[in-house]
Formats: sequence, structure tokens, C-alpha cells
Amino acid sequence: MSFTLQRIPAFSSGLFCRCSSKSFQRHCSRISSKKVRVSDALSSEETGANVRIQGWVRSVRPQKDNLFLHLNDGSSLQPLQVVASSHLNTRDLTFGCAVDITGTLEKSPSKRQNVELHAQHIKVVGECNPVDFPFKIKERHSLEYVRQFPHLRCRTNAFSSLLRIRSEATAAIQSFFRDNGYVQIHTPVITSNDCEGAGELFQVEVGSNDPNPHFFSVPAYLTVSGQLHLEVMAGAFSAAYTFGPTFRAENSQSRRHLAEFYMVEAEIAFTESLEDLMKVMEDLFKAATEHVLSSCAEDVELFHKYTAPGRRAIDILKSSSQNFTFSTEWGCDLQTEHEKFLVKHCGNVPVFVINYPYELKPFYARDNQDQPNHTAAAVDLLVPGVGELCGGSLREERLELLSQRLAQAGLADTYAWYLQLREFGSVPHGGFGMGFERYLLCILGLHNIKDVIPFARFSHSCLL
Ligand code: 4AD
Repeated sequence: MSFTLQRIPAFSSGLFCRCSSKSFQRHCSRISSKKVRVSDALSSEETGANVRIQGWVRSVRPQKDNLFLHLNDGSSLQPLQVVASSHLNTRDLTFGCAVDITGTLEKSPSKRQNVELHAQHIKVVGECNPVDFPFKIKERHSLEYVRQFPHLRCRTNAFSSLLRIRSEATAAIQSFFRDNGYVQIHTPVITSNDCEGAGELFQVEVGSNDPNPHFFSVPAYLTVSGQLHLEVMAGAFSAAYTFGPTFRAENSQSRRHLAEFYMVEAEIAFTESLEDLMKVMEDLFKAATEHVLSSCAEDVELFHKYTAPGRRAIDILKSSSQNFTFSTEWGCDLQTEHEKFLVKHCGNVPVFVINYPYELKPFYARDNQDQPNHTAAAVDLLVPGVGELCGGSLREERLELLSQRLAQAGLADTYAWYLQLREFGSVPHGGFGMGFERYLLCILGLHNIKDVIPFARFSHSCLL
């Protein structure tokens, strides 16, 4: 059987006849002009070329003879200056409107840009009423204000910069792992395990009209971490990573917690020391940040990259004169106030904190079997302004110790498959997770995690 695609003629003879000569010229000029993006136009060495550029107007300056526009299409922070004869000005050419412009790229007399677009035709594709549009032409809007418009904030300079950086950082992280021999694994979003054991789970059920809300044979949740699935894969690939959406039903309004965020997780087999893990964390951080700095230089403001020598975190906290709200006794978990203090104490540089109280850590953390402070081989990377950026550990690979711990927690049946990994070719291994939004907060010196994710989900927020 043959299958033919129907072609609908763009020029029916009737339509062609009705075209006025001006609109026909416009049409011809559009189809003969090369479509370019603003970033390419800005870096173009070639002048005199006929080009077509589509985007959104960021400023309009009508003068007696000429009209000046700034045009942005999301490809760069810097807009392209458009110069047109004032007769091309129309009432609907306003801040925020979408336009389709053809003209020639010419050398700019101004030092601010290399080239400018001399427009021959300007078509307003989508109008934008500047009175109703929530962003105003010359105002600097606060991040709090902009946050109220999740469907429009990508039109602001700050948020579009952020999203370009986010995209480049994503690519850099993928490259880092690929270049270092890791296999990417798409770990499941729906799972039955609560890897962290903290009970911060979103339960997955089918629609409320269904008499049987449980689709699977066991309760199902949105993943809080891909770690356990990565451990499966590290047992075959030696080094595996995942980078995907992660969910925590933390009822927290804090500036560093989201209900849906992105986590980068790595799992490495044949690893026996926390130093190995710390090296991967540090290398990942540096590689991603160097790439971001070189590819989005004008968007990035801040980067800290030094590490400090180790000292017992608990001793630093206890010997300080600071009045902490939460206890600093051995055995109590580190709170945000402690994490921030430690980072500051070390000169506002990233700090690794290692060997946490054994009882504080989830069942998978490796027992250091030490005395008198019983610890697990776990590590957190704390960074200035953010606190915990990465959390990781060596995993308990010894069948007997893991069986005992799971049995004590009443989890032996639930994690029978996980125990089996320790029966068949078990090796010392470890890994970590890095919160991607916290990474962005850290390198950009931003304050609120809701400002570094395209669409923020947090407790009591409205969803788009
Ligand atoms: O320290 P966490 O809970 O570690 C794990 O989930 C491990 N299973 C990862 C692993 O070893 N494969 O989370 C890792 C990181 C944290 O350090 C933090 O940066 C980020 O995930 N994170 C959050 N980011 C935003 N919002 C939240 N609610 C977050 N919870 C954790």
C-alpha cells in the first residue's frame, strides 16, 4: 500500500491575485532572507546580509526620523538593536509584543554593539498591551514580584539568564559523567521504596472514580532518590548516574526546599573510601561550573571553588560562642543554622563533613564499626549561602550487617531484592546525590530555590 503526503499549495492562484504589490514584496523579502537568532546576529562579522529575526520587543524608542527597538529571542542576554525608519512605527509596536523583522545587518556606529539590524519590514505577530502586561519597560522587578507570574517570568532578563545557565549546567553535568565513563540510567519516577526512610513520600494513586485506587500490587510513591536503582546498575556497569526529577513531601516553606526538584546521583562500584566520593563531587562541581562560566560568562556573578582542611564539625559547633536554637550534642542531626555556621567558620568556602552518627543515617549507609562514637561512612558537602549541596555515603555491602539492620527496622521483606544484591558479586561501593537547584543557588549567589527552577512546586503553592 502506498502512502502519499498531501501538499496544500501555499499560493493558490486566487490568493496570489489578491496580493497587493507591497505585501507581495514583503512576502518575497521574508522568504529570501535567512532566518537568524539574535545571538548569531550579534556575533556576526558579515554586514549587508539580508536576515529575518523573530522575537519579543524589549524597548521601543521612537525619534523624529528613526525608530529604535531592542529585540530579544531568548538566545542571549544582550538584545539586538533594530533601527527603522519612523514610518514603520505602529501603535501595536509596544514593549513585550512579538515581531517578525526583515532587514540587513549593518555595522553599528555605537560602541555598545557590533552590529544592528536595519529593518525594512516589521510585522507585529502578537500584540502586548503594556498597561496589562505585568512587567514594565524601565522598571527593575524584584525576584519576589516576578515569581508571581510563573507563566511569564521567562520574558524577564534575570529569569531567561537563569534558564540558559540551567540548560548549560545540565549539558555540562551530562558531559562530565559521559567523559568519565559513567552510564546514564533512567531510574524510575514511580517506585515502592522510600530510600531515605524519612517518610516524605507522595503516594501515587489512580483517579478518585476508580474503585481500586492501587494500580500496582503494592503502594506506590514518587521517587525520593534513584539511589537504590542505581546501586543495582553499579553492580554491572561499575559507574552509573542519573539526573531526573525527585519528589519530597516536606512540609517546608524554606528557601532551600522544593517538593519537586532535580537530583544528580552517581553510584560507583569498587570504592572503599569517602575520599573517592569527595573527589567525584568536587570534580563534578568544578567541571560543571567551569563550563557554565565559560559558556554563560555574562550571566554568572559568583563562584566559590576552594576547599578547607577537615576538623570535627561537632567540635567547631560546640566551641563556638554562638547561641544555636537546636542542640549541638553528638547524635543530633545538623540543622540549617549549624550548616551555615560551619561554612562560615571555614571562611565561606565549600566544606565536606564526614562520618555522621550511625543511627542518624538510613539503612544503606556503611557501618564504620568505630568506638566510642559509632559512625556511618557518610559525607555531606556544605556550601556557602546554601548549606547542604550533596549527600552521599559508602553503602553497606556486607550481607550480614545489612540483613541485621534491615531486620531491626522491620524492612527485611521489603528490601529482599536489595539484600540479594549483596549475595551475588557484591563489591564495596558508594555514591552521592547533588540537588541541582541548590547547585544553581550556590554558583549564582541567589537566595531562594524558587528562583532557579522553571516551575516551582512547594507546599501550599498553586500549580500551573
Ligand atoms: O541528602 P539527600 O537526601 O541524599 C539522598 O537522597 C541520597 N539517596 C542520594 C544518593 O546518595 N544517591 O539528598 C541529596 C541532595 C541534598 O544534598 C540536597 O542538595 C538535595 O538533594 N535535596 C533537595 N533539594 C531541593 N529540595 C528538597 N526538598 C531537597 N531535598 C534534598
